[in-house]
Amino acid sequence: MKKLKELKELEYEQEVVIRGWVRFIRKAKDIAFLHLFDGSTVKDIQVVISKEQRSLVARGAYLEIFGSKIKSKGSGQDFEVYTKELKVLSSSQEYPIQKKIGEDKDYLRTIPQYRTKTKKMMAITYLRSFIEMKIQHYYLEKSTMKITPPLITPSDCEGAGEVFSLGEDFFKKSSFLTVSSQLYLESMVRSFSEVYCLAPAFRADPSLSPRHLSEFWMLEYETLTDSLDEVIQEATALIEFIGQSLLAEDSYLDLIDKGLKDRIKEKITSSFQRISYEEALKLLKVESIGSKEEKLLLDHFSCPVILTHFPIEEKPFYMKQREGTTLSFDILLEGVGEIVGGSLREEDSKVLKSRMDKKLRKDLSWYLDIRDKDSIPTGGFGLGFERILMYFLEEESIKDISLFPRWKGHLDI
Ligand code: 4AD
Repeated sequence: MKKLKELKELEYEQEVVIRGWVRFIRKAKDIAFLHLFDGSTVKDIQVVISKEQRSLVARGAYLEIFGSKIKSKGSGQDFEVYTKELKVLSSSQEYPIQKKIGEDKDYLRTIPQYRTKTKKMMAITYLRSFIEMKIQHYYLEKSTMKITPPLITPSDCEGAGEVFSLGEDFFKKSSFLTVSSQLYLESMVRSFSEVYCLAPAFRADPSLSPRHLSEFWMLEYETLTDSLDEVIQEATALIEFIGQSLLAEDSYLDLIDKGLKDRIKEKITSSFQRISYEEALKLLKVESIGSKEEKLLLDHFSCPVILTHFPIEEKPFYMKQREGTTLSFDILLEGVGEIVGGSLREEDSKVLKSRMDKKLRKDLSWYLDIRDKDSIPTGGFGLGFERILMYFLEEESIKDISLFPRWKGHLDI
């Protein structure tokens, strides 16, 4: 049996056995045409069937077809499959993806278990998987160690009220779902010099915005450095790499939107504008910067923005501080807002202790201890994986990037 993707390599007239789902059926006078998909390629394969076979088939059915590859007369593709025998392996009653609603995002969100049967969701899912693999290669080439961090943690450290608690029964102590793998990467970087992970993060953030999920994936990176510029450079290089990699998959991009490829090209050639938090306050004549002001900055510069040196009150305890600010940065992108958050980490355990309450000192005694045993300075960042795909694929809602999105009040399946 051949995957549909493999058909293009075969000679004409060669006999084939294929399997796939019926996307739609087009009737002609004495025959009918099926558009078949199996997920291995973005292009449907056109299959010619007889009038009699037509009566056996409905949209959504899963078929096995025994036939031959022939030159296509008018499908817009080079070849099609002429059917000799057809078996219905699974029939579909009340198939939920009717032709007209294929693009109705609101409806499709109510049936996440089926929406990957639409071409666009298939393309997004493919590109997400592709980029994940590309990132793994990127870091493999750089000898950056991939870490698999734990998802259950004994402290709510960074959580600042946004943490999901698992209670105390099972572990006989407080336990939580992780909000970030950073603290674990900070220990691992002290063995491997440069580390990263691509892992889920969970946040009980009540925001209903189109860029917030309660469960999302974050790429986190940590390296030995005392230079904020170096960390920023790593983050921008990764963003460019992701854009560049997407360009290799133009048939999938075309499916999302015909002009997308050109717009991605523009995005990866545009430079990043750097500005400190203090300068940004002056520029916008405001007292603080939230998502509204982030958008004003993006509109002002019309390019990606790197906002640096956040005030101490705005950022977590672990960031290195200098002259009343943190050595930190966020990267902001048009249409999405904050895509990356990063900083240099304070490596002096005494300084860190002075910022922590008694409970946090106890919970994170190991985190303080790794500094006493190994006081090397480090820095790193976290990049929202769904958000970077939103940006390049120009999806308005993160809920159409995540297959089974969870957000406040929504945990349907
Ligand atoms: O800026 P954040 O909170 O940074 C951290 O968690 C650091 N510990 C990372 C590090 O230095 N290792 O989150 C990083 C990124 C954000 O810029 C955003 O892109 C994404 O994670 N993010 C979310 N994405 C979807 N839904 C949410 N609720 C998100 N919260 C953050």
